[in-house]
Amino acid sequence: TQTYKLAVVAGDGIGPEVIAEGLKCLAAATEGTDIAFETTEFDLGAQRWHATGDTLTDEDLAAIKGHDVILLGAIGDPSVPSGVLERGVLLPLRFALDQYVNLRPSRLYPGEVSPLRDVDEVDFVVVREGTEGPYVGNGGALRVDTPHEIATEVSVNTRHGVERVVRYAFEVASKRDRKQLTLVHKHNVLVHAGHLWRRTVEAVAPEFPDVTWDYLHIDAATIVMTTNPQRFDVIVTDNLFGDILTDQAAAISGGIGLAASGNVNPDRTAPSMFEPVHGSAPDIAGQQKADPSATVLSVGLLLDFLGYPELAARVESAVAADAAAKGDAQRSTSEVGDALAARIRG
Ligand code: IPM
Ligand code: MN
Repeated sequence: TQTYKLAVVAGDGIGPEVIAEGLKCLAAATEGTDIAFETTEFDLGAQRWHATGDTLTDEDLAAIKGHDVILLGAIGDPSVPSGVLERGVLLPLRFALDQYVNLRPSRLYPGEVSPLRDVDEVDFVVVREGTEGPYVGNGGALRVDTPHEIATEVSVNTRHGVERVVRYAFEVASKRDRKQLTLVHKHNVLVHAGHLWRRTVEAVAPEFPDVTWDYLHIDAATIVMTTNPQRFDVIVTDNLFGDILTDQAAAISGGIGLAASGNVNPDRTAPSMFEPVHGSAPDIAGQQKADPSATVLSVGLLLDFLGYPELAARVESAVAADAAAKGDAQRSTSEVGDALAARIRG
């Protein structure tokens, strides 16, 4: 038996509800195989912060590092000042575990209706940089709350950091049918970072002669994603552009309830972390209203990452089949999870 150590961070709001269904489907996918998961739950998020003032301690981090992989629900609550949990829990995990690839696939499954007219096919993946950009907290404020306040938030882009995510994106593109990579940035204005990204793509491209690449400014990319999303195969972009673009990507391909992601450390020097793109949705927390599909799809990405593409495909097919069959009936979170687990078992 191959046993994996799984760290589970259910987190806030709907996190625990969707994680329960994700684990249910993980069990279904590995039933009858020689793959086993040994789970450890980590209490991180709003409750912990209120009780102890801790976000992510060195001990938490050390314990999490002892795992093979992480499944995370959602972090964030309106009772905690904005930024405390994001910059105290989620981003430190991505940064400390060097999860430099934020992998966010978008597929419109048959049965899901895109809000876009005349769009019946969406199938692309955004490779979002995960450890640099404007997310690093490199900035400050002067003369706060005066008419002369100055705030800076300086994006950090290193050649090392850009090159490794760009190479990963080329690799992803080279394994797909269309082998098309689009760099998204804003090098007409953000000339320093933008040209570093452009030059890096130019430098790496010759390693992947079968991949074609092109470039779009971020503003134009949002138009294309609305008018012609079929144009995209693989997109590579920085942390903030990728954050925004992947919410738009989710919206056009079945909604945020179906958007999965992997925070991947391709070098495997620390565990990778899989999580739905959606947040903690405190307004519907504890009511069994959340759609666990995004978490279940994230479990699929997790299985793929561990080297089980057939199991991953079964999980994705289950979600696709459920999307095609579900109709308009209101189902609880656990009913959806049960339906998906049953399809995964086959
Ligand atoms: C996401 C989220 C996070 C991000 C927030 C909660 C810090 O929006 O995973 O997309 O901006 O990366
Ligand atoms: Mn986001």
